[in-house]
Amino acid sequence: MVEEGLSALAAILERCRLNHTTQSRPPNILQSLLAIQKALGSVPLHAVGEIAHALEVTEADVAGVLSYYPELRTRPPGRHLIRICIGESCVANHCDRVLAALRDALNIDVGETTMDGRFTVQRIYCVGNCAVGPSLMVDDDVHGRVAPQKVGELLNEYE
Ligand code: FES
Repeated sequence: MVEEGLSALAAILERCRLNHTTQSRPPNILQSLLAIQKALGSVPLHAVGEIAHALEVTEADVAGVLSYYPELRTRPPGRHLIRICIGESCVANHCDRVLAALRDALNIDVGETTMDGRFTVQRIYCVGNCAVGPSLMVDDDVHGRVAPQKVGELLNEYE
């Protein structure tokens, strides 16, 4: 499994390297990290040096992009990814209460994964469901008008 991950990383880095030498200068670090995350589920911290070498940038460049974008993860996510919207419309509709209910129900904070590996919680800045906020997504499912007192019920839909 680890070897599969390493060879997948090497293959992606080779594609990124070819892409940036032929098309983009400076290299698109974010695009490369998203490709790695899509293939591996996360961007492993131990790979930062290898990624920097492949893209011909510094490790600080890679680490900076990795820490700046909340969509990027350094650890594999839980089985279900909860993305709570904190866009303007959802803020106006008290998404903070939904987030508090999620924290209470799961005993984790944003960016963390439950001990049983069931859920990871992330923020997102609009899921295109503004008319019926507050909204959140669980995997690809969009939920609107999420009531804090119904969060437990909603989570029970996902094993
Ligand atoms: S701001 Fe939350 S869905 Fe648009």
